Amino acid sequence: MCGIIGYLGNRAAKDILLDGLRHLEYRGYDSAGIATWELDGFAVVRSVGRLDSLVEKLGAMELRGTSGIGHTRWATHGRVSEENAHPHRSCDGKVVIVHNGVVENFLALAAFLKEKGYFSSSETDSEVLANLIAYHCAKEVDQRGHSAFLEGVRKALLHVRGAYGIAVMHGDFPGEMVGARNSSPLVLGVGDGEFFFASDTAGFASHAKDAVFLNDGELVHLRGGDFSICTLSREKVEAARRAVEWHEALVEKNGYEHFMLKEIFEQPIALENAMRGHFSVDGSNTHFGGLQMSPMELRQVDRIIFCACGSARCACLAAEYLIERIARVPVEVEYASEFRYRNAPLDRNTLVIAVSQSGETIDTLAAMREARRKGFRVLAITNGVGSSIAREADGGIYQHAGPEIGVAATKSFTSQLCIAAMVAIYLGRLRDLSCEDGVEMVDALRQVPKNVEEILRLDGEIRSIAEEYANYENMLFLGRQSMFPLAIEGALKLKEISYVHAEGYAAAEMKHGPIALIGENCPAFFLACDGRMLEKIQSNIQEVRARGARTIAVISENCSAAASMVDRAIVIPQTHFIAQPILAAIPMQLFAYHMGVLRGCDVDRPRNLAKSVTVE
Ligand code: AGP
Repeated sequence: MCGIIGYLGNRAAKDILLDGLRHLEYRGYDSAGIATWELDGFAVVRSVGRLDSLVEKLGAMELRGTSGIGHTRWATHGRVSEENAHPHRSCDGKVVIVHNGVVENFLALAAFLKEKGYFSSSETDSEVLANLIAYHCAKEVDQRGHSAFLEGVRKALLHVRGAYGIAVMHGDFPGEMVGARNSSPLVLGVGDGEFFFASDTAGFASHAKDAVFLNDGELVHLRGGDFSICTLSREKVEAARRAVEWHEALVEKNGYEHFMLKEIFEQPIALENAMRGHFSVDGSNTHFGGLQMSPMELRQVDRIIFCACGSARCACLAAEYLIERIARVPVEVEYASEFRYRNAPLDRNTLVIAVSQSGETIDTLAAMREARRKGFRVLAITNGVGSSIAREADGGIYQHAGPEIGVAATKSFTSQLCIAAMVAIYLGRLRDLSCEDGVEMVDALRQVPKNVEEILRLDGEIRSIAEEYANYENMLFLGRQSMFPLAIEGALKLKEISYVHAEGYAAAEMKHGPIALIGENCPAFFLACDGRMLEKIQSNIQEVRARGARTIAVISENCSAAASMVDRAIVIPQTHFIAQPILAAIPMQLFAYHMGVLRGCDVDRPRNLAKSVTVE
């Protein structure tokens, strides 16, 4: 959602804050702003639009303050405007705040504060939070061992219902800063005599050596060159420091025009990293060190429920086909946001698996918490080391895909598919999957990085296809069996990157309604990569062509008979069914990317989107 940054140290804060926001801009980019503590008080500078607009507005402003906060916004409450941009300032001018999250009871708080003489000038819940903190701080008195600032923030937050990740400064307490989180991520960065707050380590990776990931209900107080952590109920918390695992090179484009293209081309490496260390010595099985479940416990699992959002959910839909076919374990895939409220009846041996690239998606985190509240074991598959979902799960598997800056999930998606395939093998080998079949599947997965490299060489051909289709405003993506989830993902990629209205359907289902859309203005994109379904998909292609629609198809070599039926065929290597979804994803990603570029879209930061959705 939003990106927040804070700095307290001995260097000028301005450029450190801007550098941090640059690395957090993928979390939201409707507006941006910074506030620094200067000799004459707070300097607050905000602007609508991308970070570059703020940089331009700041120009050569002499901001020498060594403490400050910054924010890049994804609008929740209130229009995209300068007065709604963060940092927000309390009406008495004493408190400045940056906030990621949603204060659900902000209207009631605003009414209470109005009676106390605290008024808002914006439409945001965050300004109400600034006023609430100012109100409570005004009632506290600084005493030895008792920080009026920290106590004021703590008491204010006790009245807040909703999600927040905040960094706060107070004019009466220069040289201090408070951070706090509840459901929205916040990480403390510890450098040499300087401290950072950020939504994730990307915000301070090139400055800090250690990171402390905060948990819900915790507050961090920076004062006197040190920090302390406590809970909302004032219990002291011992900091668990982790080395910052972020490398500048990974968050630069390295010559690619966009992060999305770079991350599409990083997939061979990302897939190798996903598989590294997970194959058994005899090559017939997989293993995972972080499941915290014994083979016996996993053998007892008689149902798996995946909870995820967006592309992560599409990966789960593909995982459903693989796990049911290979391990014969019933699988259901739930929209995380629906699972949380559906109160689904689950039987005792159900295993819940939360899948999330960021590890901070609030819908997935909330679904995971609901499952754990009911006493179910929850595993996580995530790229977010130290993320909320990673820390709250009972066990899990890290993707090790490296930072994914582009808003569109690409390498994280195929990495999730790869991990799901390995999980299917593991569960299968606990049951009826033979050693020979296991070897065949492992071998196929080992070949995937090379297969992907081969497909990436089709980039120019795929761009030429996008050039032919760049003016279409609608498209249907169609696939069968494990290609059906790929069709949904392909449609999601296209719509979020190029703003073309696209829908993914089971190819046979097209006849039951969606075919009404098909025609010269609505082409179809087929995933024909399952030899068992070749004749059926060929019939679907014919049904579409008979209605005058143009057709594109991703075709595996064993389905090459379909190539002559479509206007443009993208032929990819045929592989074992366990790995075919990974290969089929690559051309769709490249197609969506080129469509977005050709249509003049900002493919790394598509309108209205954010990389990690940390509000419900
Ligand atoms: C996918 O391209 C989108 N960026 C979005 O659907 C994303 O997959 C979804 O928000 C889930 O994010 P997560 O994997 O970080 O939980």
